[in-house]
Amino acid sequence: MYSWYWLPFLVTAPLLSNQCDFSPIPGHTMRGIFEGFSCSKFSSTNATLVQCALQCYKFSPSQCRFTRQICFGSICRCFACGGAEAIEFRSDHEPFYLRGNLLVTDATVPPYGQWSIPDGLKKGRVIQVKCVLPTMRVNFILACEHSDIAFVLEINVNARRIKRNSRINGTFGSEETKVPFFNFTAGEELEVVYIVRHADYFVYINQVSFFTFSHRVQDIEKIKHFEVNGGGTGGLIKSVYVS
Ligand SMILES: *[C@@H]1O[C@H](CO)[C@@H](O)[C@H](O)[C@H]1NC(C)=O
Ligand SMILES: *[C@@H]1O[C@H](CO)[C@@H](O)[C@H](O)[C@H]1NC(C)=O
Ligand SMILES: *[C@@H]1O[C@H](CO)[C@@H](O)[C@H](O)[C@H]1NC(C)=O
Repeated sequence: MYSWYWLPFLVTAPLLSNQCDFSPIPGHTMRGIFEGFSCSKFSSTNATLVQCALQCYKFSPSQCRFTRQICFGSICRCFACGGAEAIEFRSDHEPFYLRGNLLVTDATVPPYGQWSIPDGLKKGRVIQVKCVLPTMRVNFILACEHSDIAFVLEINVNARRIKRNSRINGTFGSEETKVPFFNFTAGEELEVVYIVRHADYFVYINQVSFFTFSHRVQDIEKIKHFEVNGGGTGGLIKSVYVS
């Protein structure tokens, strides 16, 4: 139904802006099944994921956070959603591509690095971090404009643990350490995906759902920075994307 209208746009790649964060990166297929909220749905014959992304862009550029396509025969339905709630990764560990704002690539860890999150965090946004683990530990930090730390996630291959905490008004909160397993080693490539949900962060490590961390800073839009530090050698932040 829309295809005649959208076809002219298919050749103008810039329209696939990062306002449709989950549109496929050219040459790659989007992986995983997204669950979202504030979803609008529209059906059209043989709609492609690219068309879904364009419709999403056209109809609700500011709200659009991801699109997906579901087909029954030749009738495909596009979903354009305000935000993500969960990602059902496929079991075969295929690469997962998040289209969004690229905060940083190829930064060594340590030392310390800090990058701005455009517009601050929002419910439904997704953060994807790809890194190589250093010989001791790496910390991923979501920080407010002032000095508060909303969420620090430490992966420590020496102590074989993953710690989560906050630091509000200069005081660290209670540490959370429960994980389903720990078999990560220095030099290994790791992917951490956060979904910013209403009440918590939902964190996947290497496409396995690992833990949640309840919001301690309630006003999540005040969280403006992604920071990294660590100890040891050989650490590398390969990329950080924020939807
Ligand atoms: C949709 O796809 C089916 C199967 O590939 C094809 O037979 C049909 O002609 C297509 N319809 C349109 C409108 O392109
Ligand atoms: C932090 O300090 C501010 C200003 O003094 C205060 O309003 C706020 O309640 C404090 N927050 C916590 C969690 O202690
Ligand atoms: C780590 O453990 C998980 C869960 O048991 C397993 O799926 C994964 O293959 C293991 N990874 C390595 C590198 O051994």
